[in-house]
Amino acid sequence: MSHSLPGGTWTLGDLTVTRFGYGAMQLAGPWVMGPPADRDGALAVLREAVALGITHIDTADAYGPRVTNELIREALHPYPESLHIVTKVGATRDARGGWPPARDPESLRRAVHENLDSLGLDVLDLVNLRLGNAEGPRPEPIAEAFETLVALQRDGLIRHLGVSNATPEQVAEARRIAPIACVQNMYNLAHRTDDALIDSLAAEGIAYVPFFPLGGFSPVQSAALSAVAARLGSTPMSVALAWLLRRSPNILLIPGTSSVAHLRENVAGAALTLSAEDLAELDTIGR
Ligand SMILES: NC(=O)c1ccc[n+]([C@@H]2O[C@H](COP(=O)([O-])OP(=O)(O)OC[C@H]3O[C@@H](n4cnc5c(N)ncnc54)[C@H](OP(=O)(O)O)[C@@H]3O)[C@@H](O)[C@H]2O)c1
Repeated sequence: MSHSLPGGTWTLGDLTVTRFGYGAMQLAGPWVMGPPADRDGALAVLREAVALGITHIDTADAYGPRVTNELIREALHPYPESLHIVTKVGATRDARGGWPPARDPESLRRAVHENLDSLGLDVLDLVNLRLGNAEGPRPEPIAEAFETLVALQRDGLIRHLGVSNATPEQVAEARRIAPIACVQNMYNLAHRTDDALIDSLAAEGIAYVPFFPLGGFSPVQSAALSAVAARLGSTPMSVALAWLLRRSPNILLIPGTSSVAHLRENVAGAALTLSAEDLAELDTIGR
């Protein structure tokens, strides 16, 4: 097992995780519904993540639904003590693959129990309250939903809490209710709405976990990114990951892939050293 993944480690609450993690969403079927076409391949990706030394896996019971959690359990249970699985609640799935919000207390309690059951755990290391909708964050109060999770934390079912798809105001609202260990929002080289939030969370010792670090369903593309990658003899994906690690020490990576080869490529690529010239050129993207 490698102990030198690019970026080193971060402490989430009281849990040490590698800053290079793995996002499991892409292991479900098309549009995150149903089982994967290549089930053995999906199990192999999860085992390879742990073999590479990754100790942070991001998932949700809504992926599949249940599919990625059950794959994680089948591939890795009983879990190594060092491995921390982060899940999220607050959205469910409808028959057409949509992600309707489900943030009433009863739905949240059910979702926490479903995650415990499908992952085969007695306690969830970290649960993110997923806010907004598929279009992005929405400015709305979160107190009732977040307090429901705080109560489940007091009951001993959750170690740490976070928020996802949240506005800066919702992050502040959550923090007035209880400590949070992370914020998981959309962010990458080409989508930098959260720049100021990332810096303020870094000052508070709170992790920022960008989802769609590679652009998600439509890969990050830009002439500047391609130019920097070509100059370094690397790939745009590697540069995008190395840039995130460099952007702020509180950024944790959870790139998704259904391919062992891509996983290895991403781990190797994130170790890329970017010069001041590279950073200046990359900084022109998404501004
Ligand atoms: N909180 C939220 O609302 C929310 C929303 C979305 C996602 N998430 C989390 O964020 C994680 C990351 O998001 P994501 O997986 O959707 O997007 P992503 O990490 O930005 O991109 C994943 C895509 O990039 C491709 N890819 C990865 N490495 C590659 C490589 N080396 N070469 C070529 N293609 C490559 C993957 O295809 P291959 O499978 O072919 O490699 C996949 O299609 C998810 O797994 C999930 O846990 C959270």
